[in-house]
Amino acid sequence: MLVDAKERHYLITLRAGTSFHTHAGIIVHDEVIGVVDGSTVTGSTGRRFLVVRPTLSEVVLKMPRGAQVIYPKDLAAIMMLADIAPGVRVLEAGVGSGALSMALLRAGADVVGYELRQDFANRARSNVIDLIGADAPYRVELRDAYEGIDERDLDRVVLDLAEPWRVLPHAETALRPGGILCAYLPTINQTAQLRAAIDAGPFGLASTVEVLHRTWHIEERSVRPDHRMVGHTGFLTTARLLVPVDDPPPYNAARYGRPGSTDRRFDLVPDEVDPTGV
Ligand SMILES: C[S@@+](CC[C@H](N)C(=O)[O-])C[C@H]1O[C@@H](n2cnc3c(N)ncnc32)[C@H](O)[C@@H]1O
Repeated sequence: MLVDAKERHYLITLRAGTSFHTHAGIIVHDEVIGVVDGSTVTGSTGRRFLVVRPTLSEVVLKMPRGAQVIYPKDLAAIMMLADIAPGVRVLEAGVGSGALSMALLRAGADVVGYELRQDFANRARSNVIDLIGADAPYRVELRDAYEGIDERDLDRVVLDLAEPWRVLPHAETALRPGGILCAYLPTINQTAQLRAAIDAGPFGLASTVEVLHRTWHIEERSVRPDHRMVGHTGFLTTARLLVPVDDPPPYNAARYGRPGSTDRRFDLVPDEVDPTGV
């Protein structure tokens, strides 16, 4: 990635014998290939550019995309909330531009993706190959996640599509007990519908979070939050597939709700639950 004096970022793929043209001049790739990460090179007009290897976050924001990508702050949260680790088997739907796939693969997961559109599936595959390589444990299938999931004993099902509640019955048979479902949704209406579907099924420990990311302006005596921030991206909901029991423990029911329960303590955040049960 090249960064100019105005902190504009240019993501380029280096190829010997070619050059990169900007309004600020031409940078010859051969003069960049082999320099140490963090070096400065000079373009044809004498302007200088910082050369750094891009982070995953920078690649996601700059890479070619078809569908809207999940923003890096949410990708980071998904890695924790869905507890993504090396060897974890993940079903991802829909795959879109592959930003989430890249984050999952970088964390060491084995990923099978379901995607409706051929062009998006191709885009995701080429983005993954560019970042991680052709031998990544990654397979994208052109199919509708609402119709079913063929995989079994999955550790995680991670969803970025409009009606994730339609995938729940399939996730129920595809996940191993204790497996985690994680869904990204842009609106709270969709999130409420998903939560209702989760509560009606064998899932528990449901939780929804929104990640707010505010950068700061730090310059001499002017230290304050930046005026602009990304106001809203989406809501992240997770739940775990439980082994059903005839009589759920009261603690669980009070804290996490039970289908048909009128217990309003479910509306409270866990720390506000009255321990006396009143
Ligand atoms: C917002 S994009 C996903 C972006 C992706 N998470 C990323 O970070 O690049 C949503 C994708 O879901 C796909 N999709 C929608 N409904 C689907 C379904 N029922 N099964 C599979 N894919 C679906 C769409 O074609 C689209 O590519």
